[in-house]
Amino acid sequence: MRVALGVSGGVAAYKAAELVRRLQQEGIDVQVVMTKSAQEFVTPLTFAALTGQKVITDMFGDESAGANVESAIEHIAVAQRIDLLVVAPATANTIAKMARGIADDFLTTLYLATTAPVVVAPAMNVNMWEHAATQENINALRGRGVHVVSPEEGYLACGMTGAGRLAGVEAIAKAVCGRLGIEHDLENETVIVTAGPTCEDLDPVRYLTNRSSGKMGYGLAEAAARRGARVVLISGPTRLDPPQGVEFVSVRSTEQMQAALVEHLARATAIIMAAAVADYRPIAPETKKMKRGDGRVTLELESTPDILAGIARNKGERIVVGFAAETDHVAEHARAKLESKQADVIVANDVTAEGAGFDHETNVITLYSRDGGEKAFPRMPKIDAAHRILDRILELRRAGRELSATQRAR
Ligand code: PMT
Repeated sequence: MRVALGVSGGVAAYKAAELVRRLQQEGIDVQVVMTKSAQEFVTPLTFAALTGQKVITDMFGDESAGANVESAIEHIAVAQRIDLLVVAPATANTIAKMARGIADDFLTTLYLATTAPVVVAPAMNVNMWEHAATQENINALRGRGVHVVSPEEGYLACGMTGAGRLAGVEAIAKAVCGRLGIEHDLENETVIVTAGPTCEDLDPVRYLTNRSSGKMGYGLAEAAARRGARVVLISGPTRLDPPQGVEFVSVRSTEQMQAALVEHLARATAIIMAAAVADYRPIAPETKKMKRGDGRVTLELESTPDILAGIARNKGERIVVGFAAETDHVAEHARAKLESKQADVIVANDVTAEGAGFDHETNVITLYSRDGGEKAFPRMPKIDAAHRILDRILELRRAGRELSATQRAR
């Protein structure tokens, strides 16, 4: 999702920095556009540092470089690129220009040029807010479908008390997410996600592992956090940065992954085991580096504990989702794992299929559920596959609630 954040000139301009961070937590890419007077309150550098992008400050780009065609049509490019325009804080002057269709700077021109939804969060002195002209302008914008996040009452920077203080960052972010269709339907869930490979040491320099990159598990953690869940991500070694807003637990071996799960289990309402956990480990890892010799070497391996099966046995009300990475007889093996591991859902991926399984950006999944449900999805980015898995968890949760309500009613 791409959002343009228009910052106009008021004391509350500094709060726009907090809004940038909050929107980024939702995975939204933020392009900041500042009016000239906004730059009197906060420097563009602040927003550039937060977004990692150039801040748009005027119609014709860098004045010293002179006007050029690229900068002259930038408002059209931005207008077409964005999924939403939010103006916060919106001054009485900017609101008036938007209401009357005056396009004398980048922000007001962008407002006219975009067909994306618009959210406006006014902030000003109480008399300016209550003035008939401002109220008329606000109503004109509302009449055009602009979502207005009303200012709050309270002590204002001008020393007066009344309505005019910029609405809280949470309220503005909620309005933006609502218009973008970002739902917080997992607010009541605490989800543990396992990701990446586990490593089993042979000696101090060598180990057994697998090709898991962690992308599937990290996608699940990110998607669940965006949908409002509290997320604990337990991960074996990967090259990925943990998604924002998740509690991150780094582990290496199967034993450590199991211990981390046991530690966090009590507060979990759902567990998703996307990690590619080693099935075997050396019985007696060497404490010193194994020396090269001419003959053959035989490694003695033992099975690792089946973490998923152990958790599912005592799952209570928790919804437990396991994965099945298969290379043949996918449906057969997935259904067998559903039974043997006592999971609520098994996500099967044929890791030999194109664009599926280990280290790909995409996956091809089929969900097998204990209620007999079976749903296959076409190839899609792992983040989208993650959302489909979370949708299934919500369906099972709702079905569980309905069942309990019927049983209570009897
Ligand atoms: O990380 P990526 O590169 O994005 O790749 C994603 C993936 C292919 C790793 C992922 O989609 C996947 O399939 N993960 C499970 C891989 C796996 O170990 O499958 P399995 O069929 O061997 O295990 C079945 C289930 O039991 C899994 O949920 C696994 O986490 C769990 N398990 C396995 C062994 C063990 N000792 N304990 C377990 O809990």
